[in-house]
Amino acid sequence: MTRRALSTSPPRNAKRAKIEHLTLNDFKDGVFLAPMVRSGALPTRLFALKHGATLVWGPETVDKAILHATRNVDPVTGVITYDGKSKAIFSTHPIEKPYLIYQIGSSDPEYAVKAAQTVMNDVSGIDLNCGCPKPFSTHAGMGAALLTNPDLLCSILTALRAAMPPEITISAKIRLLPSQEETLKLVERIVNTGVSALTVHCRTRNMRDRDAALIQRLKEIVDFVKGVGKGVAVIENGDCLSAEDAKRVREVTGAHSVMIARAAEANPSCFSSTPLTDVEQTLVPDYLRLSRYLNNHWSLTKFCVSQFKGHHVNYTKKQEHALREAIVKSRSFDEVEHIVDSWTGEQVFREIAGAIGARPSRRSTLETERDVDVTPTGTKNPEPPTSKAPLMNEFTSVLPALISGKDPLTPTPSVTW
Ligand SMILES: Cc1cc2nc3c(=O)[nH]c(=O)nc-3n(C[C@H](O)[C@H](O)[C@H](O)COP(=O)(O)O)c2cc1C
Repeated sequence: MTRRALSTSPPRNAKRAKIEHLTLNDFKDGVFLAPMVRSGALPTRLFALKHGATLVWGPETVDKAILHATRNVDPVTGVITYDGKSKAIFSTHPIEKPYLIYQIGSSDPEYAVKAAQTVMNDVSGIDLNCGCPKPFSTHAGMGAALLTNPDLLCSILTALRAAMPPEITISAKIRLLPSQEETLKLVERIVNTGVSALTVHCRTRNMRDRDAALIQRLKEIVDFVKGVGKGVAVIENGDCLSAEDAKRVREVTGAHSVMIARAAEANPSCFSSTPLTDVEQTLVPDYLRLSRYLNNHWSLTKFCVSQFKGHHVNYTKKQEHALREAIVKSRSFDEVEHIVDSWTGEQVFREIAGAIGARPSRRSTLETERDVDVTPTGTKNPEPPTSKAPLMNEFTSVLPALISGKDPLTPTPSVTW
């Protein structure tokens, strides 16, 4: 699909405005979508939010990759894309901003800060990946390599905390170290850097995903962090299957919250108390519609759809096989038209926006005041200086305070709601 033309219009006046932001409490009592390269694409995050994910992590993006990207806003849908030379590095939409944590891969405090500054107006928090065991990450000193370089790890977190405005949370995602003693030492250093939350993937660096997560080791870590007394939330990650299963995980570990990766990759509605069954029928068509509407790249869409699986009630094995075959063979959205019937992606998007807008507003909103640019009343087609997108009134009527005009850098789409 071709990219739509981008809008331009004059900058807005400066005035005092309140800013909504996450606090320590927003990392507690939640079930979160884990960061997942490719699988954690924008449509997946939106479906996860629709079905009850409390917060969503974006896929890890290496610090340097985002630095030279150009931020473009689709004037029709409001999708914000950070475009690299040949492909989009990261895409988001203002409706997810109040719930979106952006994950950085880094081994350098300076680059990490620059990367965070590049995206900070489009996200609510910055997370540092300290757990990826893949060579492409570790050979550059990133991901799980940071686990054995705690000075560097903590210097990145400290630099991020110092450089980011207070309304942007800083967090880290680690793996267990082989011994509990070493893990506790590392955890102590991390919670003293000023992070709001710490996710512990309960596997060690050398464990594979098929190895059962060592969740019983987390209880002591949770108690330890509570003992430090800074209110840092501990998030369990590893082998949680659903919102229902999160209760078991919290019971065993005492963790404040739980983060789900592969079960959400297979079914982004797993955050609901009644996850979708027959995903080929109930999820795939809408996912394709939304992806096309949001200009999500076909190959990424195809990859995500291919991961969907789950419990079948009405759908037969034969139907499932036929659908999967059709998707595998398709090379564009046009070739899956028989699966979607009609391209009503805008309608799917409105439903998601409605579901997100119906969430109770955050307890801790509007605590901070600082100078920001806001849209002067009565301005036609206004836009913030950096967004390059129009703001549309209809959007604010569906989504209340969280993405109203109080949020200075939130561009909104031109659809009527
Ligand atoms: C497809 C895929 C991509 C992943 N990408 C990331 C990533 O970008 N950053 C990260 O910290 N972890 C990443 N992970 C690890 C998950 O976030 C999570 O730690 C791991 O899968 C264990 O959780 P689970 O048992 O719920 O799957 C990825 C996992 C999968 C399956």
